[in-house]
Amino acid sequence: MEHFLADIGSNPSYSQHRRAKIGEEVIESARSTVAGLLGVNDPSCVVFTLNATEALNRILWGFIDRGNRVLASNFEHSSVTRPLAYLKKRRGIKVERIGDPTTGIITADHVHRACEKKPAQLLAITHASNVCGTIQPVPDIVKAAHEHGCAVLLDTAQTAGVLPIEAEKWDIDFLAFSGHKHLLGPMGVGGFYVADPNKLFPVVSGSTGYFDDCDEMPGTMPQRFEPGTPNAPGLAGLGASCKALSEKGIKNIRKEHQNLTRKVLKAFKGTPGIKLYGPTDARKRVGVIGFNIDSLHPGDIGSCLDQKFDIMVRTGLCSCHWANELTGTMPDGVIRASLGYFTKEEDVDLLIEAVTMIAQELPEPVCA
Ligand SMILES: Cc1ncc(COP(=O)(O)O)c(C=O)c1O
Repeated sequence: MEHFLADIGSNPSYSQHRRAKIGEEVIESARSTVAGLLGVNDPSCVVFTLNATEALNRILWGFIDRGNRVLASNFEHSSVTRPLAYLKKRRGIKVERIGDPTTGIITADHVHRACEKKPAQLLAITHASNVCGTIQPVPDIVKAAHEHGCAVLLDTAQTAGVLPIEAEKWDIDFLAFSGHKHLLGPMGVGGFYVADPNKLFPVVSGSTGYFDDCDEMPGTMPQRFEPGTPNAPGLAGLGASCKALSEKGIKNIRKEHQNLTRKVLKAFKGTPGIKLYGPTDARKRVGVIGFNIDSLHPGDIGSCLDQKFDIMVRTGLCSCHWANELTGTMPDGVIRASLGYFTKEEDVDLLIEAVTMIAQELPEPVCA
């Protein structure tokens, strides 16, 4: 990123001079690396945006037609549920949540039952819940949806970089990713994969630097969906981080991540007062660990962990109120510890020590 800002600094694709060309190479190299991590053979089908939220909005507004029916999991983030709420208002769409009422997991049967009733244009699924870590069985879901002509949108904000993803093999229609989470890029980068660009309307249009004589966006990829100046320094960072992740290998990253997750789950499961959400088997989830401690307010626990133990966690509804409804954690939400690439065993030990200490000191917690 420093190199881009200090030595390149030009707007890629708008000129023929050498710095513009170098800038373009940096971005295209990032695109190829990200495509590799997502299981996409043609990098031009990967489009860069500001974040996963923008990617999801662009797919939802660019694909769903007036009056159509959309199915969604109970784990959808507000970057899906809010556009869907507006689409209900503006385009009269119907939204139906599907999946197991306790675990939130969607099986092929849920999809068949929902699609046999009436056709659905799109099924939106979050690969792993950002409240309780639950991983959805994506290939089975996609196969079932496609049998009914229903396209699938996969939100990989919590999985890209930590779980193997095979967008093409799984036959995903649309996939959104966040650059700043497990892909370890800077804030301000994200994007989407689109299997068939002709099926998606370019909601954002403007200059692409090429094909300036057309009134409309060009049909070429990725230009069709990338108008305006990109966050090139950010994409230089994303390219570098994704290169490091590819070199280490997602399977190896997953193994380490799973071991640390297993340790936390085992400790929390065995501690009275701690209520854990999501699967207790680390193989069925990611290391987003949502929990509560007895009747204490999640916000109070969050402040306590920060101030007394130097542990920073997310607390509250975590931008996902459907999952809070599912887990019975409305209106206060959960305490959420998120394990990542740089989380070490000693970090996890400290988390376990702090949380079990708070739970054991009930009803007068150390942080009261
Ligand atoms: C499941 C899920 N989807 C979407 C998003 C939005 O991601 P971004 O911050 O990149 O817009 C998040 C962010 O936490 C998330 O957890």
